[in-house]
Amino acid sequence: MSQSTTNQSAGNQPAGSSEGPAKRAIDANEAISWFREASPYINEHRGKTVVLCVPDRLFGSDLLAPLTHDLTLLSHLGVRLLISFGLRSDVDARLKSNPSFHNGRRITDDDALQVVLESAGKVRNDLEARLSMGLPNTPMAGAHLSVCSGNFITARPYGVHDGIDFQHTGSVREVQTAAIQSLLEAGHLVLLPPIGHSLTGEVFNLPAEEVAVETAAALGADKLVLFVPELPKDDEQAWVREASAEQMKTIAQDQTDESVKLTYQRAAAASELGVPRVHLLPDTDPNALLRELFTVDGAGTLITHERFETLREASIQDVGGIIELIEPLQQNGTLVQRSREQLELDIKQFTVLEREGKIVACAALFIGPNDTAAEIACLVTHPDYQGQGRAAKLLRHLTKRAKRLGAQSLSIRTTRTAHWFVEQGFTQSDVNALPANSRESYSESRNSKVFEKKLLN
Ligand SMILES: CC(C)(COP(=O)(O)OP(=O)(O)OC[C@H]1O[C@@H](n2cnc3c(N)ncnc32)[C@H](O)[C@@H]1OP(=O)(O)O)[C@@H](O)C(=O)NCCC(=O)NCCS
Repeated sequence: MSQSTTNQSAGNQPAGSSEGPAKRAIDANEAISWFREASPYINEHRGKTVVLCVPDRLFGSDLLAPLTHDLTLLSHLGVRLLISFGLRSDVDARLKSNPSFHNGRRITDDDALQVVLESAGKVRNDLEARLSMGLPNTPMAGAHLSVCSGNFITARPYGVHDGIDFQHTGSVREVQTAAIQSLLEAGHLVLLPPIGHSLTGEVFNLPAEEVAVETAAALGADKLVLFVPELPKDDEQAWVREASAEQMKTIAQDQTDESVKLTYQRAAAASELGVPRVHLLPDTDPNALLRELFTVDGAGTLITHERFETLREASIQDVGGIIELIEPLQQNGTLVQRSREQLELDIKQFTVLEREGKIVACAALFIGPNDTAAEIACLVTHPDYQGQGRAAKLLRHLTKRAKRLGAQSLSIRTTRTAHWFVEQGFTQSDVNALPANSRESYSESRNSKVFEKKLLN
């Protein structure tokens, strides 16, 4: 990997460039740092099932080429991929009459159905061709990716709504999960056109996002990715990075654009149907997919259905709950002793995961004024709740917070959890990696090991 990265950056140098070996070394170091940051995610995503909905507006845009390359790359990294695709603008352009919609859904008459079928064939062939291209200009050029499609969606008529007969517009009735699973198992990428068949042999035009949502839910997929022209914003117009299904439904209510509203609602619905992670990504950023999947910061909005569990900054009322959580570990020597008074003084540094009123995990972030080194301490998950990604979630949250506070590196001291941190991209360091304020409290007698992770901008 490092060899190909170095070769590539050397190959990208313009002839006669004044940028010399020093610049190339910086580029290579950045690539290596990025690769280290990405490696836990590569591991995490391998073998996972991800359903993506590629909206029609990406076809014909500059984003389609990088997106299809990234999909090929993901498939080669062991991600089991399904792609549902939309046809709206292609169908609109081919229709002889004006397209008709009601509440963001097409009314599909006989002519429109013919156009939908033609368009589906064309777009499917275009996508297959693009996905067959491999990754040009990389060592993966020519790597074969096999793409499959089929009659996986059973549909029923959408029917009459508000007095309007939607004719050949349908909705998903059933997903043929066994057939899809066997194709994924055999390493194929599965394409899902927005078309379904009824048990009576009729053909229906389906909303691509509905196909994606229903398929993700039926398969028990790990992720669903939907593209949007605009990411959700909060009351202060700041980008919402994480939301629950409930919050998404509230944000959707305020949308004036009908199709954005529908996408937000479908994202919330997928979450409620049990898809553990639903990602909304901006359809204007060619790197959004890889940034979302392989960087700490992400690029979109993550919707999780955590009705009973919230991640939040700790308050003074949480001191008792945190003590209950960490006391057994202080007694057995895993964690350093912290008095109640010290905990009260430090409480603003703590983040907790609360489930039905009980603190099930916590962690603290320390960074001194004008320091660029931050430290994570007291990362604990209650034994009954371990092994479900809670500590990793807290670490991701505190990493983002550390970056926002200007930290360039993150350190931890541990006596028994070194491997866990190594798996999260930390490497062994020494006491100098700690923030200046923490170095004084480093206890030689505990013989803790210090681990560090550089933070990318
Ligand atoms: C380490 C700890 C915080 C992990 O919490 P968690 O919520 O279970 O973590 P995650 O679910 O994100 O990760 C679980 C994975 O880490 C592994 N893991 C847990 N403890 C580990 C350890 N000490 N060394 C290496 N790996 C460990 C688990 O086996 C699991 O791996 P798997 O997914 O392959 O089965 C938790 O075990 C704990 O509270 N330990 C005691 C406190 C401590 O030592 N804190 C660190 C120093 S501040």
